[in-house]
Parts: sequence; structure tokens; C-alpha cells
Amino acid sequence: MPEIDRARLTELIAAEQATYTQRHPRSRELFEQGTNLFGKVPMTWMNKWTGGFPLYLDHARGNRISDVDGHTYVDFALGDTGAMAGHSPRATVEAVARRVGDLGGITTMLPSEDAQWVGAELTRRFGMPLWSFTLTATDANRWAVRLARLATGRPKILVFGYCYHGSVDETFAIPGPEGKAQSRPGNVAPPVPLELTTRAATWNDLASVERELAHGDVAAILTEPALTNIGIVLPEPGFMEGLRGLATRYGALLMIDETHTFSAGWGGATREWGLEPDIFVIGKSIGGGIPSGAYGISSEVAAAVTSHTDAGDADLIDVGGVGGTLAGNALSTAAMRATLGEVLTEEAFARMVELATAFTDGVQATLDELDVPWSVSQLGARSEYRFARPAPRTGEESAAAHDDDIDAYMHLAMCNRGILMTPFHNMALMCPDTTRADVDRHTATFREVVEALYA
Ligand SMILES: Cc1ncc(COP(=O)(O)O)c(C=O)c1O
Repeated sequence: MPEIDRARLTELIAAEQATYTQRHPRSRELFEQGTNLFGKVPMTWMNKWTGGFPLYLDHARGNRISDVDGHTYVDFALGDTGAMAGHSPRATVEAVARRVGDLGGITTMLPSEDAQWVGAELTRRFGMPLWSFTLTATDANRWAVRLARLATGRPKILVFGYCYHGSVDETFAIPGPEGKAQSRPGNVAPPVPLELTTRAATWNDLASVERELAHGDVAAILTEPALTNIGIVLPEPGFMEGLRGLATRYGALLMIDETHTFSAGWGGATREWGLEPDIFVIGKSIGGGIPSGAYGISSEVAAAVTSHTDAGDADLIDVGGVGGTLAGNALSTAAMRATLGEVLTEEAFARMVELATAFTDGVQATLDELDVPWSVSQLGARSEYRFARPAPRTGEESAAAHDDDIDAYMHLAMCNRGILMTPFHNMALMCPDTTRADVDRHTATFREVVEALYA
């Protein structure tokens, strides 16, 4: 198996960095002028882009992004899923323009008919009968976690090590010594020790889940159907069914967050794999880029929640802690209706999945040919390579496979050759505008930069 020469890697990074800096003088200038922004960027995570400063956006359409220095990229990052429908999809833009312009009314605190259409469509796809809207997936998770605690009368949430569900306090946990949940490294100032709110288990390890559920204090298992925020870590056969069985046996709810795994198909992994959540969460892509999110609940969860609201010991209408005044606004419901109805259709998913398969095959061919000790995993329209072979089985294994230097080199080298990968890891997502030529371009570029690394 070939080894990476670290001294050579340092040289490669320096060469790619020099090219990046030389190609982007305007982006660099704008970054340096951002002195009233914390970290010089609109949101601190934007400093995650490799290269010392991010590219500044000029315009974006479909799967192309153009920066202020006049370079255009094939975008496989797609807003880390927020732009899975492509940038500014025509149908969404028209619906949004109608709502903002001719119709008028963005935030009125009144329901619109669009919301009913979207609720029915979410039921058709994901099966949950009752929906509420949010502006982000983080909010959907936060509010649904409250409902789970209310419905079960239990205090804790069970999560998997190295999961990500947005900035939800309860979820930044990893399994610690003696089975206690502990704060994940880097967690910014948790309000209380994580063991008070959370039980943490290991992905693909049903025994670790059962051990934690046996305490009898878990309101819900909150999970993605595949981990997607520490590379893609797929569930082993029987794992998701096992979670369903354990949740039922120990009186916990199964809460499935499909914000990223929606890539699995038109009805997400829930439909593709026949999952049976009690609570379902989605966000990011469903509004075509306009802030939108939703959570769906089963009739049983709804009945349990309503028994409390009827009794007057929980307030869902006013300031009880679930909801926000901008949630469910007419703009985001118009955007969701157009995006789900006309852009992220069943036919679009079929094409996107086919392209992701070609992308994955292309990466695998280079890994095989050059005997590179990495792996690539596909989840429907999403594909991701990881610097470990075989593919990691758990969040912990996948976290251990991270390599800052290889990561920096790959991102810079790809960017300098006109390809954007998601900044957080090496994920590539297909959208309805992605073409076979874009995928083939990635395949050729991937081979070129990996061959240089292992030369
Ligand atoms: C699985 C999952 N859930 C929730 C979120 C939070 O989404 P948002 O940042 O839009 O609130 C993310 C973000 O990456 C995610 O990956």
C-alpha cells in the first residue's frame, strides 16, 4: 500500500495555496475589509473554507458558482445540502418572486394555502401525518426534542458519537468512560454537563444503544439514518430496524433527522429503507435555498402532546418554547411548494442518484488503480470519500480518519481546478442541473490530484 510522503505533501499544499492566493485577489481584499464581522465573515464557520480566506460570491445558478475574481466552479458542495435543488431553481425563484412581488406578504403571521399543499406532500413522501414548519433544521430538531420530552415525560435524548443535528445543546455528546455522555471536543460552552441531558451511544452498535435505553430515562433516540457529518457512515444491515425495535421496547421515541439523508431518494431514507420514525425532521433543501424546515409527528405523539396542552400544563400557542414568529411564513411555504412540486421530483432524484453512482465509481476506480487506502460511500445523490480503508463503521472511527493536511490539499487542489467540494469534509452532492460531464470532470481531476499525492 503506498504511503504519503509528508514533506512532499507540505510542498504540494504550499504550491496549491500560492495558486489559490494568486487567483483570488478580490476575494482576499474583501476578506481583509470585513473588519466589522466576527472572524471577518458573516458566519464564523465560513472560515472553514481552505485557503486562508473564502471565495466571495458573485453569482450562482444551477450547479455553477462564480466568484468575484471571475472564476466559475462546478459546485458539488451545494450549500452542504441547502442547494440540493440547484442554485436559484427557476420554479422556486418564480414562486418566491410572485409571493414577494405581485401577491405580497412575506411575514404576516397568517397561514397560507401553500402550507397545506406542502404538509400533504411531506406526508406523501415521508409518511408522517402531521407537520409543523420551522426556518432551519436546527429549530426543527430543537422544537421536536421538546415535544418528545413532553410526550414521554422523560428528560434525555440519546444520540450517537459524532452526530450533528445543528446547534442543538443536547446533541454535542460522545460516549464517555463509564457509559456517561460527555461533551464532544470543541463544544462551545454547554449550559449544563451533557450527562444531565443526553445519553450517547456508538453508531452501528445496538448493544451500546440498549445499555443506555435500559436506564428508562430516554425520551427519544435522535439520529440520521446514516451519519453524514463525519463522512458518510452507513448503517449496517439490521441496525436501523434494531433501533426501531429497541425504541419501542424501552418506551423511547425514534426521531429521524433526514436533513442530509433526503439525498437517499424522493422520500428520503425513510421511504427507501422502510423506516418507521415517530418524529421526522427535515430542513435545508426543501425550500430551494429559502430558509425552511419541518418536523412531522405520528398521531400517537400528537395525542400525547395534546393531552398536556388540553390539561393546561404545556403551552404550544404562546411562549411555551416551541415555535418562532417567522416559522411557516408565506415566503418559505411558497418556496417549499415550488421546490418539492417542480424541482426535487421523483424523476430528478432518479437522475441525481445515477450521477452519484457514476461519481462514486469514478473515485473508486482511482482508489483501486493507485491502491490508495481511502474509501468512498454513496447515499443516493450524495457521495463522499474518506481517508480510511475499509470505510469507517462508527462516528469515532470516522473522526479518527480525519487528516487536516490531506484535507487541505484535496480542497485547494480541487478548487484550483474549478471544483468545489463541501468545506467540512469531502462530500459531493448532485442536483438536478449536474451533468455527466461534470462528474467526469471530477473523476479526471480526482485522479490527477491523488496521483500527485501518491507519486
Ligand atoms: C443532519 C442535520 N440536521 C440538522 C442540521 C442543521 O441544519 P441548519 O444548519 O440548516 O439548521 C444539519 C446541518 O448540517 C444536519 O446535517
